[in-house]
Parts: sequence; structure tokens; C-alpha cells
Amino acid sequence: MLNFEFKNPVKIIFGKGQIVKISQEIPENAKILLLYGGGSIKSNGIYDQVMSALKGFDVTEFGGIPANPEYEVLIQALKVIKDKQITYLLAVGGGSVIDGTKFLSAAALYQGEEPWDILKNKIRTDKGMPFGTVLTLPATGSEMNSGAVITRADTQEKFGMGGPGLFPEFSILDPLVVKSVPQRQLANGITDAFTHVLEQYMTYPAQAFLQDRFAEGIMQTLIEIAPRIQQDPSDYEVAANFMWCCTMALNGLIQKGVPTDWSVHAIGHELTALFGIDHARTLAIIVPRHYRYNFEQKKEKLAQYAERIWGIQEGTVDEKAGLAITRTESFFHSLGIDTMLSQYTDDYEGTAEKIEERFTERGWLGLGEHKSIKPGDVRQIVALSY
Ligand code: NZQ
Ligand code: ZN
Repeated sequence: MLNFEFKNPVKIIFGKGQIVKISQEIPENAKILLLYGGGSIKSNGIYDQVMSALKGFDVTEFGGIPANPEYEVLIQALKVIKDKQITYLLAVGGGSVIDGTKFLSAAALYQGEEPWDILKNKIRTDKGMPFGTVLTLPATGSEMNSGAVITRADTQEKFGMGGPGLFPEFSILDPLVVKSVPQRQLANGITDAFTHVLEQYMTYPAQAFLQDRFAEGIMQTLIEIAPRIQQDPSDYEVAANFMWCCTMALNGLIQKGVPTDWSVHAIGHELTALFGIDHARTLAIIVPRHYRYNFEQKKEKLAQYAERIWGIQEGTVDEKAGLAITRTESFFHSLGIDTMLSQYTDDYEGTAEKIEERFTERGWLGLGEHKSIKPGDVRQIVALSY
């Protein structure tokens, strides 16, 4: 097991009817900016619950943060923060609204001229404006981590940011919100969380027995509940387990003491930036190609995963590992997720070369657990997905 430090300061308030507790978490004299997305919270009743919990508080609203939160839109929210002298941010939404709020938390206290530099130059945020979240969509884990991913439409870029100053102070996880989540987003949420676990597990054996079991437990639970949540998102017990799996998949715990990969995300973000493909779907496109291409480095963990997750006991390490990749792709298909780039766009020719070029320009010269995946390898992985 590798050395590690672990600190996660997010207060999780989990369960039915917990949104009302917002009022206990935000200072009474706060000037709050309530941030939300395209309006789903207005039709499913979450907005009303939040507003009634905030009775008596000084609240300004900013809606319209799009999926893959856009810098241009967030800059408008930043202006509101400055004009109204906001002191506290409250995100009510999925990963996009929460990530947008994290960017604003950082940008509100940023001293530099151009807030995009936080993303472009990977400036770590040690202190941000305090914020809390009400999660409406289990998927990203953003509600319990300190990272964010922001898109810039004019340059078709999507960059990550983060730092210890960007943990939410609290996150309210009420599984009742899941009942209004559309099928497409349920499939995305399962796929994203599943891939988060894979990125922190599918590397090489590190003698971290408990970490492996945590990771496997999340994957097994996601596989077990996937058909049930798709069939009935209003099943509270299933929704509760789905929500907790997604949070646990990326709150930092399972990555401690083990090597991590994250190439799938790095490549996937380019597919979202270039084609607007949903984040989770880009991962389903890249996972099988990446594991086939890097088979030799990953086959021992792939074989362990084959045995423990898919019950494949027969065959050699190579055979089990190969089957595990096939089963993973079939799992994505079972959710209704296509796994080839050509199923999302006709305009895929040249994508592999373009991504290779971008990674080279940015100096992203070694991805993966061994930092050995070069831009040329990325090109070949993407080309396999056409
Ligand atoms: O915008 P509204 O109207 O709210 O609708 C949203 C949006 O259209 C809808 N939705 C959310 N909750 C709902 C609901 N509809 C009905 N009922 C509800 N209860 O779902 C749509 C998608 O929302 P979005 O927030 O975009 O989805 P998700 O949570 O999957 O977030 C994706 C973003 O998070 C980033 C992704 O790159 C992407 O930009 N990620 C963030 C991570 C992090 N911070 O740790 C890690 C991830 O790997 C990921 O990169
Ligand atoms: Zn993800």
C-alpha cells in the first residue's frame, strides 16, 4: 500500500426530507447566491423546498448554468457576486451546477486579472468563498470532493481545477430527488460513478486489500441496483444506495494508498469539448479501448475484477482479463449507453490526431498510473473508438 494523507471536511446530511436543514448550516447574516441549472428544480419541487428552508435569509438567485458548465455563463454569475457583495454560495443541482459553484468560489477570491487562468494554469485554490450544495443528481461525486471541470465553448476546451479550499462546507443528499431524474441521466450517473471506481482501481496490484474491496463493493452495488433504479427511480431504498455509491466513488477515500489512472477522463473531456457528448458517455467510449490498448499493464487487476465482479473463474489471466473488458462494455450497453464514437457523431475523422496534438501542445506527455501513455498512444486509443 502507498503512503497517503486523507482529509475530507464535507459534512454530509443524508436522507429523506433533509433539505430543510440548509438553514442550520448557513450563517444567519450571509448574503446567499443560490445557483441552479436549466430549471429542473422548479418543476420537481426542489426549488420550493430550498426557498422555504431559506425563509428569512438574504437570497439572490442565478439560474441557467448549463450541463458542462460554461465559463461565459459563470462570468455573469461572478459579476452578480461582486455587485451584490455575496458572501455564501449555495449550489442546487448536479455536477455541472456544483462544479460551476466551485469555480465561482475560487474566482470570487481570485486576485489575478483573468479567472480563466485558474483553469488554464491549473492554479490550486487554497481558500474559496464558502459554499454548500443540495445534490439533485447522483453521478459525479462533486458534492463531496474539491474538484471541478469547466468548459469554454469558444475554444472548445474543458479543464479541471481544484484545491483544498473547494470542498463544500455541507452537502444535502436527499434520495427523494432521484425520482424526477430522466432515464438518460440515470444511465449517465451509473456509468460515471462506475468509471470513477475503475480509474482508481484498474491499474496494478498495490497490496491495498481493503481499498480494493471498497472499490469492488461500490461496483457490485452499482451493477446490482442499475436495472432497479432504471425501472423505478422512485424506489427510495434503491435511490438511496445509488446516491451513496456515486458519492463514495469520488470522495477521495478509495484512491488513498493505491495508484490511479484518470486517462479515461482526460481523453473523455476532449470528446465532450469537441462534440458535446455527455461526460459519462465519453467514458464508456474510451474505457474498453483504453483497457485493450494497455492490456499488458492492467491485466492482473483486470483478471481480479473479472473474478470478483463478473464471477469469471475459468481461464488464464489473459482470458479472464479480456472477458472482463467485454463484460464491462456489455454493462454499459445494458444501461442504454453506446460505446463507439461513430455512434455519436459522423464527424469523427481526425479526432484522434486532434487530441494528440492538443495533449502535446499542453505538455500532457505521460498519462496513466505509470505516466507512460504518450500523446501518440492517446491517438491510437481514440482511433480504436471510431
Ligand atoms: O439543468 P437542469 O435543469 O437542472 O437539468 C439537469 C441537466 O439537464 C438534469 N437534472 C439534474 N438533477 C435533476 C435533473 N433533472 C430532473 N430531476 C433532477 N433531480 O440533469 C442534466 C445533467 O445535469 P449535470 O449536472 O450536467 O450532470 P452531472 O451531474 O452528470 O454533471 C456532469 C458534469 O460534472 C463534471 C462533468 O465533466 C460534467 O461537466 N464532472 C465533475 C466531477 C467532479 N467535480 O468531481 C467529476 C466527474 O468526472 C465529471 O467530470
Ligand atoms: Zn466522471
